[in-house]
Formats: sequence, structure tokens, C-alpha cells
Amino acid sequence: MTVIKLAIIHISVHHHNTYKVAEARGVATGGTVLTVDEAKKVDLSEYALVGFGSGIFFSSHHPALLRFVREHDTIPNKVFLFSTAGLPSLHWIWHRLLRKALQKKGIQILGEASYPGWDTVGLLRWIGGIQRGHPNEKDVSAATQFALRMAASTPTESSLA
Ligand SMILES: Cc1cc2nc3c(=O)[nH]c(=O)nc-3n(C[C@H](O)[C@H](O)[C@H](O)COP(=O)(O)O)c2cc1C
Repeated sequence: MTVIKLAIIHISVHHHNTYKVAEARGVATGGTVLTVDEAKKVDLSEYALVGFGSGIFFSSHHPALLRFVREHDTIPNKVFLFSTAGLPSLHWIWHRLLRKALQKKGIQILGEASYPGWDTVGLLRWIGGIQRGHPNEKDVSAATQFALRMAASTPTESSLA
């Protein structure tokens, strides 16, 4: 279990792909898993580290997540970004808007990762979609390892004292 206070803020609307990643990470790290709506009622400055993630929709994170980040002033200084996507290898493009919104606030991004997520957008529905069965156990395990690494690289209050 992590000793730092970690919040994992996500929105998952297509096939609950991102939810599976967020939930497993919460269990592995002892972090608090919040939807964007739940996070609106929480004082994020209480957390040492926040992970932000959603599926990718038309080349960027979900608009509600982007809006949340742009409108909130209590985001802690250390965050990580994640997503699930039909084409996760292009996450350096898909994460651009969220990355920019955080960097504009001077927030340090410790790391970014993306995992395959079942995608049945548009005509893909007729062939059963792409990335069917993802995120699978291997993806979720990689995602929890990543979150543990992010937590381990965040100084605790006692180590700063
Ligand atoms: C309307 C729509 C647009 C999408 N656009 C993209 C995209 O631009 N790039 C991509 O890699 N995946 C795209 N996807 C696939 C989703 O990002 C993927 O299925 C993701 O895992 C959904 O996450 P969720 O189930 O947590 O909402 C799109 C899916 C939908 C429904």
C-alpha cells in the first residue's frame, strides 16, 4: 500500500474500460478512486498525487475531464495522466490537450500511459470493434504497476520534513 495520499480521477462512458483500470489501481495503491463528478465535491489539495484519466474521444480525453482540470484551482502539483484508447500507441497525441491544460497551471506531470480499450465507435461496431477484450488482466496489471511507480516517485510529507 502507498503511504502517500493518491486520488485517481476518471470518467468512463463507452465500455467502462477506464473504470476497470482506475478501480484496479485504487485497490493496488490504496488510493481514492473518484469520478469527475465526485471529485468536484472534494478538496484535492489534501492529496499528494492525482491521476487523471478517461477514454479518448475524437483525439483527446473526455471533455468533462478537460473542463474539470481547466476550472479547478486546487489540483496538487504532482499528477500523472492515463487513458484507454482504440489506438493507445498514439497517446502522445491523444494526451496533448490534457497535458497542456495542466502545464499551463504549472503542474508537474510525473508520467503518462495509455492502455488498449474495446472500441466500437461508428462502423467498427459492425465488425465487433477493435481491442475487444481489453483492457485485459495484463493491461490492468501494467496499469497498477505504473500507478505504484508514480506513487513511489512522489515524496511523502515525512521524507520532506
Ligand atoms: C465517439 C468515440 C470516439 C473515439 N475516438 C477515439 C480516438 O480518437 N482515438 C482512439 O484511439 N480511440 C478512440 N475511441 C475509442 C475509446 O477511446 C476507447 O474505446 C476507450 O477505451 C473508451 O473508454 P471508456 O470505456 O472508459 O469510456 C473513441 C470511441 C468513441 C465512442
